Amino acid sequence: METLYERLDGGIALLRINRPEARNALNMAVREQIAAHVAAMTHDAELHCLVIAGTPKVFAAGADIKAMADAGASEMMLRGSDAIWQVLRDCPKPLIAAVNGWALGGGCELAMHADIIIAGDGARFGQPEIKVGIMPGAGGTQRLTRSVGKFKTMKMLLSGEPISAIEAERMGLVSEVVPDDEVLDRALALARAIAAMPPIAARRIKQLVLTGADMPLGAALAMERTAFELLFDTQDQKEGMRAFIEKRAPRFVGR
Ligand code: HXC
Repeated sequence: METLYERLDGGIALLRINRPEARNALNMAVREQIAAHVAAMTHDAELHCLVIAGTPKVFAAGADIKAMADAGASEMMLRGSDAIWQVLRDCPKPLIAAVNGWALGGGCELAMHADIIIAGDGARFGQPEIKVGIMPGAGGTQRLTRSVGKFKTMKMLLSGEPISAIEAERMGLVSEVVPDDEVLDRALALARAIAAMPPIAARRIKQLVLTGADMPLGAALAMERTAFELLFDTQDQKEGMRAFIEKRAPRFVGR
């Protein structure tokens, strides 16, 4: 199996890319499996957060170079891989990338599709596409710029040189760096903590952060206000505030 998918307790799931012999390169089969699992998780009412990981030494070394070396432009278009990335873009539930080792090219872009990135201290991030004659094709020129700004992005994309996890954290590309052997546990613990939150509020926060970033500030703030007000029609808002006042733990039901 090139990907491994497990539903875990606490309302979370774990998806692992499992092609270590090819450094978890994202061939079409792996991408299709990732999209299928993300879609399944999205429609599973019991699941509230997904962790995407690789293997202990590599998250993903990018698109499968051997599978595209001889392809032409129209063949690349007909492969329809953007529809696969679209599934990740459309996922309304929180996604966490747990990154050990290399996250290069499409692997770095896969991590950037997540909402939170937990990286091991030995992880390395990079967009080395230019070294093989191409450029990022799954959001690297845009998501990286929006995360770390023009000058760090240009250096990474034009030189193809990777950066360390510490540097990535310093520039805002990762959420948290932990020792390599704690990455998965930390990502799963965070996923469980998020899954225990009221799911409608979690979805709205994700939606506002992502869509608001591409809107004029005034319109984004108005959308935030409406989403905020609508949460007052949920049982979870009543429960969360009552539980606080009554000094007890809340029991959220996702309604
Ligand atoms: C296909 C790959 C691969 C890749 C590694 N392999 N990366 N195969 N596509 N992206 C294969 C190697 O050919 C080799 O196969 C085996 O995995 C082990 O690789 P090594 O290089 O020997 O391993 P190592 O010395 O540990 O180096 C790891 C590495 C390096 C630093 C990750 O493999 C590397 O630089 N890979 C390419 C990274 C890259 O350029 N990524 C961008 C791809 S373009 P054999 O058969 O010899 O054992 C891209 C475009 C995205 O991502 C567009 C949108 C999706």
